[in-house]
Amino acid sequence: MTANRFSLDGNVALVTGGTRGIGKAIALAFAEAGARVMVASRKPEAVESTVKELQAAGANAEGIAANVGKPGEAKRLVDATVSAFGDIGILVNNAAVNPVFGPVENTETDAFDKIIAVNVRAPFDLAKAARPHFISRGGGVVLNIASIGAITPDAGLGIYSVSKAALVSLTQVLAKEWGKDKIRANAICPGLIRTDFSSTLWQNERILAHMMNRQAIPTLGEPDDIAGLALFLCSDAGRFCTGGIHMADGGYTA
Ligand SMILES: NC(=O)c1ccc[n+]([C@@H]2O[C@H](COP(=O)([O-])OP(=O)(O)OC[C@H]3O[C@@H](n4cnc5c(N)ncnc54)[C@H](OP(=O)(O)O)[C@@H]3O)[C@@H](O)[C@H]2O)c1
Repeated sequence: MTANRFSLDGNVALVTGGTRGIGKAIALAFAEAGARVMVASRKPEAVESTVKELQAAGANAEGIAANVGKPGEAKRLVDATVSAFGDIGILVNNAAVNPVFGPVENTETDAFDKIIAVNVRAPFDLAKAARPHFISRGGGVVLNIASIGAITPDAGLGIYSVSKAALVSLTQVLAKEWGKDKIRANAICPGLIRTDFSSTLWQNERILAHMMNRQAIPTLGEPDDIAGLALFLCSDAGRFCTGGIHMADGGYTA
């Protein structure tokens, strides 16, 4: 009975940035739970190899190459998902960029615009593009992958943290406005997870030690450590959860 509530059987999920790291772990977990999965990322070869890997694992998966930061891509991604699977019930806004590391005064306006376009505007555009499909099928779920930086910004990640705080706020706004349409929206704030994206942090001994000293569980997280929470929030098991900011950070922000 409980296990069934975590099933995504018959559901369709679009996972941006689904070809590596946290997004790929979520795509795999959702496929294992019975969802049909569309993965999207910029590099066509990454999309192709991830789709092959998912299919080899028994998943009903497709992929599409797209830069979510480009205007117009949101509708194309949602349309491609619906035309591949006839439905979309889950949107995971996971793709993000951070082209700069350093103090705010050294961050160029172009970098600011790029970070906001991919990390905030794309989730907004994608949620809006998915909304009519969610409404016509009687509901849907938006899951935004934010960061501990949204809650406690760390040095060097200035505008990235700003973008994640905006994503958390977008999550709460969507939850409040779209709850009446049976659309839920939640955010996960991962702590330090072993992926390419964060390698400059966990490969730096000083930064790694700082993180581990602050965590209640002094362990580097793995992409899979986010996938279970994502499955809970996007399945019927999480049906009473919306507008939530869910930490998965080894206690870093506790
Ligand atoms: N790793 C951590 O410690 C950590 C901590 C907190 C939050 N997060 C968040 O977790 C999410 C996933 O990060 P990750 O660590 O798993 O990163 P990752 O391993 O580097 O994977 C990032 C994924 O996003 C895709 N991507 C990047 N820019 C894109 C764009 N403009 N359009 C479409 N796809 C794009 C990448 O593929 P392509 O290169 O093919 O585009 C890749 O599939 C991000 O939102 C990140 O902010 C990560």
